[in-house]
Amino acid sequence: MLNSSSETLQFFRAWLSEPFRVAAVTPSGRALAALIVSEISAETGPILELGPGTGVFTRALLARGVAEENLALIEFGMEFAAKLSVDFPRARTLCMDAARLRDVELFDDGPVGAVISGLPLLSMAPRRVYSILEGAFAHLCANGAFYQFTYGPRCPVSRPLLDRLGLKATYLGGTFANVPPAAVYRIQRRRIPRIAGSRARSTTADNS
Ligand SMILES: C[S@@+](CC[C@H](N)C(=O)[O-])C[C@H]1O[C@@H](n2cnc3c(N)ncnc32)[C@H](O)[C@@H]1O
Repeated sequence: MLNSSSETLQFFRAWLSEPFRVAAVTPSGRALAALIVSEISAETGPILELGPGTGVFTRALLARGVAEENLALIEFGMEFAAKLSVDFPRARTLCMDAARLRDVELFDDGPVGAVISGLPLLSMAPRRVYSILEGAFAHLCANGAFYQFTYGPRCPVSRPLLDRLGLKATYLGGTFANVPPAAVYRIQRRRIPRIAGSRARSTTADNS
């Protein structure tokens, strides 16, 4: 799906007012959206999306068969959160900092099956990235994955941070059909916790 010109304009205005938060001049394109949701299906379970912006990845998730009720959208920008609430009324939209995710209740019936992140991790301090990942993995089921895109040449989560959290990153693919070209990484726990079911927490992360 192509971005509408009003969405592109809204995005550009948001970037002008807060370039470090928005970190892109235009919403992601169709190819990147298709890539980041490529391993998601209706069977994945509830999905947590971080930094949805104007909802490009959100629409791609719906196209993969995810029910709108099964989406929790975490967006810091008030302008984007307001639009998301209107465009996806049955999703749970929270206007908040993704670094404060850990203690938020998302879904009544258990953990999420995957996290889709459009957050600009490269422009964030390592401590903030740590809090985001720790919080997201506290909500993820034992074998769930965190999908992150980047404009950089490698995974935007550093090796020391992955080690500290007991995580591993795998390159999923890249696309030149995006402005700028982008790549997607799948981040997962190195070891699946023995106690699956209710909220699985990475034991390594708790040692920090
Ligand atoms: C690069 S844009 C990506 C937007 C959209 N996912 C896309 O691909 O078009 C980054 C998004 O993350 C949001 N964001 C930045 N920092 C955030 C934070 N700490 N918590 C939640 N959202 C944040 C921005 O407001 C913006 O919507």
